[in-house]
Amino acid sequence: MSRIAYVNGRFVWHQDACIHIEDRGNQFADAVYEVWGVRGGALMDFDGHMTRLARSLSELQIRRPMSDAALSAILVRMVALNHIRNGLIYLQVSRGQARRDHIFPSPDTRPGIMITAKPVNFEKAEARAGKGISVITQPDIRWARRDIKSVSLLPNVLAKQAAAEAGAGECWMIDTDGFITEASASNAWIVTADGTLVTRPASNDILNGITRRTLFRLARNAGIKTQERPFTRDEALAAREAFITSASAFLTPVVEIDGKPVANGHPGTFSLQLRASYVATAKERARKQMNRPSVWLVACRGERPVN
Ligand SMILES: Cc1ncc(COP(=O)(O)O)c(C=O)c1O
Repeated sequence: MSRIAYVNGRFVWHQDACIHIEDRGNQFADAVYEVWGVRGGALMDFDGHMTRLARSLSELQIRRPMSDAALSAILVRMVALNHIRNGLIYLQVSRGQARRDHIFPSPDTRPGIMITAKPVNFEKAEARAGKGISVITQPDIRWARRDIKSVSLLPNVLAKQAAAEAGAGECWMIDTDGFITEASASNAWIVTADGTLVTRPASNDILNGITRRTLFRLARNAGIKTQERPFTRDEALAAREAFITSASAFLTPVVEIDGKPVANGHPGTFSLQLRASYVATAKERARKQMNRPSVWLVACRGERPVN
């Protein structure tokens, strides 16, 4: 089926979508991004990703490309135009197009915006989660502002490639003190012997995952103990369970670290139950968020994005 992308104010065929060679995202990685999971046609954790997008833009002093209502409408339309039931929506906003110079261009430079959509095989993703994944570990060689969702992802790419070459599903990265920061494209968690959910606190060291935040809320509401603190690879190997979270993986159990099994080497019931309730809750919230009249009014009026 033909895919449709959105680039700088226009819906275009995916194969024809292009940006200017002097887009600063291209030359300097001077851009931020967001990824929404789509389940049953609804964008999951919609508001959380919009809020983090605003924060990333503000931290880098990149102009917002348009109003939240206009952007929401375009995202909803992208899901519909691409007939996405289960999939991912990718959004990237750059500081715009300008003659190459490290210094920011003039403040009235229009930010660049691009959005793509792709379907994800629901059954395959569920089967992967049901089996769990193995991870490798590597030193974390990234910059000191990992809290910003910047497109500057080369260390993450290298880490994920190393994992793929080792036949693993993810790479957990380790800081100079020997603690896990997060994975190349997801947050890292363990479940301790007494059933406490542990993950590293939100700081400049990690991306504060939207799935991570939603899962925290869900766990606390269910009376599950949670703790935000760093943990080591050895603690993870001795844990009852381990898993990763992200908009694309939701919650996926980790059954092996650097070739050694976590617990009995099978996904734990705790992780699988949490995954099921995360998906159910997030789907329900997504439906409510996307049914807000403001989004549909803008979508129906076909309001032009301010770009
Ligand atoms: C480095 C990193 N950490 C964590 C996450 C998880 O974030 P989210 O749950 O918002 O997808 C991602 C997702 O892309 C990521 O790239």
